[in-house]
Amino acid sequence: MTDNRRFAGRRAIVTGAAGGIGAAIVRRLVSEGAMVAAIDRSAAASDGSQVHPVVADLSTVEGARTAVDEAVAVLGGAADIVVSAAGVYVLAAAAAVDETDWNANQDINLRAPFFVAQAAVAARAADPSAKGRPMAIVNISSTGAYRSGTGDAALSYSASKAGLVALTRSMAAEWAGQGIRANVVTPGVIDTSMVRIMDDPESGTAWLKARVPMARLGRPDEIAAVVCFLASDDASYVTGSELVADGGYMCR
Ligand SMILES: NC(=O)c1ccc[n+]([C@@H]2O[C@H](COP(=O)([O-])OP(=O)(O)OC[C@H]3O[C@@H](n4cnc5c(N)ncnc54)[C@H](O)[C@@H]3O)[C@@H](O)[C@H]2O)c1
Repeated sequence: MTDNRRFAGRRAIVTGAAGGIGAAIVRRLVSEGAMVAAIDRSAAASDGSQVHPVVADLSTVEGARTAVDEAVAVLGGAADIVVSAAGVYVLAAAAAVDETDWNANQDINLRAPFFVAQAAVAARAADPSAKGRPMAIVNISSTGAYRSGTGDAALSYSASKAGLVALTRSMAAEWAGQGIRANVVTPGVIDTSMVRIMDDPESGTAWLKARVPMARLGRPDEIAAVVCFLASDDASYVTGSELVADGGYMCR
């Protein structure tokens, strides 16, 4: 019987796979038939033969390249799907940002997605079995790219996420001729350990009511759903686009 699931027979790399959003993306890809190399600096959960955890530190270019090499080896071929969800949220007020804070955000949120994608594209070009297969890259940015609204001292984080939007568009333009699509998802405030506004639940709830038309946090599975749309052939004519998933935050 033919397997009609969207990712049957597809190989995927997901970074940040041990985190809230990354893990949800892995679950969704696997539920639709993909085999996944789950990259994170902490070991990602593996619930069977479709998920292969790859422990790696993406904060250096070499680390990103090595992680992709390892991922391609465990997948048994080049990746058809690359999702960069690894991220850090290093906060400091503008006057206090130092080189360490700055570099942490830029290295992991902006540089790593590029070098992961570059290595995955090179692996695809070198793999004869990947010839003619579509490839999709999905990067996870943030509404912080457009707006600094949560009251956090997120200037350096926001700059990294805005850079990721521009980077994704350039990837889309440059690689379209090779059958590669690249898109970016910009989540609003999602219920993971990264979120700080709910440290004080009372003011967090008031903030959500005042600023987010849907008046609630997003769930990681709601981000996974849009990532998997962009990664799938349902989005075969979509490249260089930004998909905002924020409960309406950008509308207000
Ligand atoms: N949670 C939100 O509200 C929100 C909103 C917008 C965008 N995002 C973005 O979504 C992505 C996922 O965030 P999340 O909410 O799941 O946070 P999370 O902290 O749960 O997950 C982030 C993951 O990235 C991994 N990581 C960090 N540095 C790494 C490194 N050097 N090498 C390898 N792995 C590393 C962490 O180990 C962690 O598992 C991030 O890029 C984040 O910026 C999150």
